[in-house]
Amino acid sequence: SFEVEIASSGLVCRVGPEQRVIDALAAHGVEVPVSCEQGVCGTCVTPIRSGIPDHRDLFLTDAERAANDRFTPCCSRALSGRLVLDL
Ligand code: FES
Repeated sequence: SFEVEIASSGLVCRVGPEQRVIDALAAHGVEVPVSCEQGVCGTCVTPIRSGIPDHRDLFLTDAERAANDRFTPCCSRALSGRLVLDL
């Protein structure tokens, strides 16, 4: 598991091994807009302030992936212990 932090509020949510980031956030009252929930549409793309995402979407370009400054929380995860989200 890993943690996501909301930069604006300092809220930290743990994301369990079987849990999606969007669900962990929703459990803390943070709703990220979603549509496909499969990493295809890009609706949920969320900016990242720090941490390394584990990109599992089909939406971002290779350059966008390499920048590690945004990810798709409907399906992607984290390689670092914490992702700080620019929310
Ligand atoms: Fe479509 Fe996340 S909701 S990519």
